[in-house]
Amino acid sequence: MTEPLLSIDRVSHEFGARRALLPGRRGHLAVDDVSLTIGAGESLALVGESGSGKTTLGRVVAKLLTPTGGTVQVDGRDVGGLRGRELLAYRRTVQMIFQNTQHAFNPRRKIRDILADPYEIHRLPAPDGRDAALGELMERVGLRASMLDRYPHQFSGGQRQRIGVARALSLGPRLIVADEPVSALDVSVQAQVLNLFSRLRRELGLSLLFISHDLRAVYFLCERIAVLYQGRLVEVAPRERLLEHPLHPYSRRLIAAVPGLGGRDSAEVSTADAPAAAPAAGGPATAAGCHYAATCPLHVQLGRPDRCLTERPALRATAGGSAVACHFAGDESPAPVPSVVTEEVR
Ligand SMILES: Nc1ncnc2c1ncn2[C@@H]1O[C@H](COP(=O)(O)OP(=O)(O)OP(=O)(O)O)[C@@H](O)[C@H]1O
Ligand SMILES: [Mg+2]
Repeated sequence: MTEPLLSIDRVSHEFGARRALLPGRRGHLAVDDVSLTIGAGESLALVGESGSGKTTLGRVVAKLLTPTGGTVQVDGRDVGGLRGRELLAYRRTVQMIFQNTQHAFNPRRKIRDILADPYEIHRLPAPDGRDAALGELMERVGLRASMLDRYPHQFSGGQRQRIGVARALSLGPRLIVADEPVSALDVSVQAQVLNLFSRLRRELGLSLLFISHDLRAVYFLCERIAVLYQGRLVEVAPRERLLEHPLHPYSRRLIAAVPGLGGRDSAEVSTADAPAAAPAAGGPATAAGCHYAATCPLHVQLGRPDRCLTERPALRATAGGSAVACHFAGDESPAPVPSVVTEEVR
């Protein structure tokens, strides 16, 4: 197997980690021991409820935050120790796109100058003359070269997001981390910007870490989906597999919440026949147990096994191509695993 472009290996990020060393203080573990890879040209989605650590992990990958544990590697090289020129080269390789385009650009500067910034910062001459390169960038994202002399407020939200994409593309990145890039846009415009991402991936062979709440957008754009819950990776699987046969009870809940999206196994585990709820022996799940146990229907259905409260579930590979962090997921439905059709990475 070829080496992945990006390897996230047991990465954690605790906000306030230093303060937490003081007596009586606690940090906030936003990302908790997450391992993931992204292949060259591959598109991976990060999904999960608000506060689950998606942005934090994205920022760690883009090296806007330093992880408090674990390593991030690109082409097999740990990016933690990069300095100077090597760090600049990393910043060219990995670019981040954010949700809010309203305040992303200095309102007093023309788009021409905004798009020229990356070349200045990296002290790179634009190929074939700067103007030609900037015009080409604009056209690549579906805008016109003649718009370079406009100011940010003279663009619509969708057009501004295209400019954000152009700026990210200017130095030839190999991986884009896109954090909710279409959530702030009108629904009709969202589809256009998603199409742009899809086209750029095809044309440029880009890898994408796509952070989104929108499972439909994720399904359209990504080959694999990783589900985070309270900072932990609970499931990662090829998209069809995850949407049609989610294993983790939390993934099931997430997918069941989008009508018409999930397959036969996306319904939540029924709790109708479960034994009456008894107070959990160990109280709420501790760091040692499963974070989801407190609200997990499968935990109830199985008679509240202690293991969920005392032992953190490791991510385990399943025969169907998913990896799931649950001691019991899959055990309640012995149905044969359907074959998975995964799309070729384009
Ligand atoms: N700078 C910070 N200082 C302290 N805690 C933070 C900071 N940034 C984020 N957090 C906390 O870390 C957790 C993860 O936040 P993060 O922004 O990564 O979540 P998210 O999954 O991107 O959520 P959303 O879907 O709402 O964007 C949250 O509990 C959040 O409150
Ligand atoms: Mg976020």
